[in-house]
Amino acid sequence: MSYILALDQGTTSSRAIVFDHQGQAVASAQQEFRQIFPASGWVEHDPLDLWHSQLATAREALQKAGIGARDLAGLGITNQRETTVLWDRKTGQPLANAIVWQDRRTAAMCEKLAAAGHAELIRARTGLVLDSYFSATKLAWLLDTLPDARQRAEAGELAFGTVDSWLIWQLSGGRLHITDVSNASRTMLFDIHRRVWDADILALLNIPASLLPEVHHSSGQFGLTDAEWLGAPVMIAGIAGDQQAALFGQACHQPGMAKNTYGTGCFMLLQTGSVARRSEHGLLTTVAAQGSSEPRFALEGSVFVGGAVVQWLRDGLGMVSSSQAVEPLAASVPDSGGVIFVPAFNGLGAPHWDPHARGGLLGLSRGTTQAHIARAALEGIAFQSADLLEAMQADAEAPLTELRVDGGAAANNLLLQVQADLLGVPVVRPKVLETTALGAAQLAGLATGVYSDIAELERCWQVDRIFTPAISRDEAESRRERWRSAVTRVQHWQG
Ligand code: G3P
Repeated sequence: MSYILALDQGTTSSRAIVFDHQGQAVASAQQEFRQIFPASGWVEHDPLDLWHSQLATAREALQKAGIGARDLAGLGITNQRETTVLWDRKTGQPLANAIVWQDRRTAAMCEKLAAAGHAELIRARTGLVLDSYFSATKLAWLLDTLPDARQRAEAGELAFGTVDSWLIWQLSGGRLHITDVSNASRTMLFDIHRRVWDADILALLNIPASLLPEVHHSSGQFGLTDAEWLGAPVMIAGIAGDQQAALFGQACHQPGMAKNTYGTGCFMLLQTGSVARRSEHGLLTTVAAQGSSEPRFALEGSVFVGGAVVQWLRDGLGMVSSSQAVEPLAASVPDSGGVIFVPAFNGLGAPHWDPHARGGLLGLSRGTTQAHIARAALEGIAFQSADLLEAMQADAEAPLTELRVDGGAAANNLLLQVQADLLGVPVVRPKVLETTALGAAQLAGLATGVYSDIAELERCWQVDRIFTPAISRDEAESRRERWRSAVTRVQHWQG
């Protein structure tokens, strides 16, 4: 009974990983699912695709590990955050496709709310910037748009959830309608200080409270899955949004520790312990995964396009045949030849919050080659992360001494070296790069006695490689100045 199954429901794929009691991955499975783009700036997922792909990977991972559900002490769930699902409580069927966090359809609704003066209340209660990134306006849009939805919601017939709630509802056969504090904190409906759904914001958006899940800590014995799914009931014992799970899995438990995940986007979180620090530099205050009864907070900076820029070089431009081929191409030139690539494909997130920015390739000359563009693309990821870190340093009390990194693109050594050069602090890559799934497994392991305490988790975390800054601070500053000037040129591009 000392294995833990982590379900990691991400933006582009569902993954399942079996961990042993030492935090080693024993087996894993992954399935991609359909991305739906019904209109410009709209992104949807079919909630049943999310559930079916997640269930299939869970079964496959158990089979590969050669174990059954009875060998599991528990199950941890981590997920793409903010993505909004609305379903029928009786049938368990979704009313519409899930509106994905990247979807900008409610940008105008957010601008209207801001113009009416609501941004400050939302900021004070939820820690968030009023933006279409979060669930609140997506849910309001569904209630406004789907026939009878608001009326049915008021009658208690419907349920809302982020992807964790949706999966738990399915896994428990509709017995559990729950979420955790870290996911709740991304809805823009949750008061992060009082830890309750905020009645004023619900009223503002005309959202009935009966739609909402119960909010729990991130670690606890929440309830059993139905036996039919995995062959025996399994205790659901960990729940966290994927970025908060990664902060946990990176053992960033002490205030002042930070991690950056290089996935589709880049998400940098700084642990601030029991203090909900308000950002004066465009970052978000968010709830960190809570392993015990003590509230934990983080400052977060989110960049919408990170590793996705590498996919664009591959799929959009056909410049490389695989994502891995970008590193050698970029490394074949000593620098970007003066090219700056601002990958603001769907606006800029923190710290700029400009939905109207669009991507830009600046500084092209007759001598520019694909290699320069590939290098500028990698540098663009690192420059954006440097902007986040600078904002964090300005908000935090103590300077950051290292940045822990994970996510797919953290396998790219050139990217991490450039990152260390720009930041001026060591960039540390751990041995286990699956820190998101690991964090979810650890939360479940704490609740089921597989791990005794946080100190044990801290001892398990191990370094793979440290990238130390190799250029002068003057050189880094002059490169960053050119980047900042390029960013100003792509801002407010549309409208
Ligand atoms: O806030 C969005 C984030 O949770 C998505 O993460 O890893 O699915 O791109 P990922």
